[in-house]
Amino acid sequence: MIMERRPDNMVRITTPELAQAYIDEQIAAIREQVGDKKVLLALSGGVDSSVVAALLIKAIGNQLTCVHVNHGLLRKGEPEQVVEVFRNQMKANLIYVDATDRFLDLLAGVEDPEQKRHIIGEEFIKVFAEEAAKLEGIKFLGQGTIWPDILESEQGIKAHHNVGGLPKELDFELVEPVKILFKDEVRVVGEALGLPHGMVYRQPFPGPGLGVRCPGAITRDRLEAVREADAILREEFAKEGLEGKVWQYFTVVPPFRSTGIRDGKRVFEWLCIIRAINTTDVVECTVEHLEPAFMDHLVKRITTEVKGINRVLFDFTPKPCATVEYE
Ligand code: XMP
Repeated sequence: MIMERRPDNMVRITTPELAQAYIDEQIAAIREQVGDKKVLLALSGGVDSSVVAALLIKAIGNQLTCVHVNHGLLRKGEPEQVVEVFRNQMKANLIYVDATDRFLDLLAGVEDPEQKRHIIGEEFIKVFAEEAAKLEGIKFLGQGTIWPDILESEQGIKAHHNVGGLPKELDFELVEPVKILFKDEVRVVGEALGLPHGMVYRQPFPGPGLGVRCPGAITRDRLEAVREADAILREEFAKEGLEGKVWQYFTVVPPFRSTGIRDGKRVFEWLCIIRAINTTDVVECTVEHLEPAFMDHLVKRITTEVKGINRVLFDFTPKPCATVEYE
């Protein structure tokens, strides 16, 4: 049976046993709802859509088609991980669309943050709808709506981003198997489904991806610099035991250069900003103050390994007055 609302007396899912009971219940509910029809799912590789994909694969196998749209703004290794986990390990029916050129061509020269977000959102829907149109007999759309999304949209705090982000014009019935769960419960269920720990416990990552961390008009070389610097930062945070402890951490590469020296010669290169924050509700955030030796190490690695970066800055501004992201 599909539950529309979270029962008041529902026990918080905190153990593998509770997760397994939820998984069994949902598998039966999905099978009852879907029957022998087909389901389509936009699989970003984020926690919620990944857990929905894993649940649907268990429940209906190849009646599910997942579409992973790579908009070219994902972090290093992310598209590869989605393909490896879902296509190779879980044997899902996965359509991988590399739409990098489409997105970056549309974004070329666009400086306004809102316009950038709009272009990314619209184009995502277009690409997804094009893929959906190629498939036959799709009746359902899987979605990673979670309980806070429903509460927040009911309270008018924010538009329901899981619904808002997907093609409304496509007339599908929704399958939302984690919609009565809180985020921490989605993670416990994800681990019980066998998803990699790093995927289930990954830090929040905005829909427009590295696009908002490459402020101003995105260029391919600066985007590559922010992606490489981000990969180094994540690797070093993991080595330092900070992964899963610090709420969110990332790099930003603004669109201007400063003077430096490389091999005795003057260079004019970008700078990289490191931001690491902690929060519970993202309304207010504090800054994670890193150890000086660790900061030195990050500066050394990024300035020697990332092409085009000769300077590293640390952002120690809380929210408010600064937002988490730069755009
Ligand atoms: P701000 O910058 O508003 O960020 O303080 C708060 C949290 O939201 C994330 N964020 C986004 N997530 N789409 C998303 O899915 C977006 O457009 C977006 N903008 C910001 C941000 O990473 C932080 O965790």
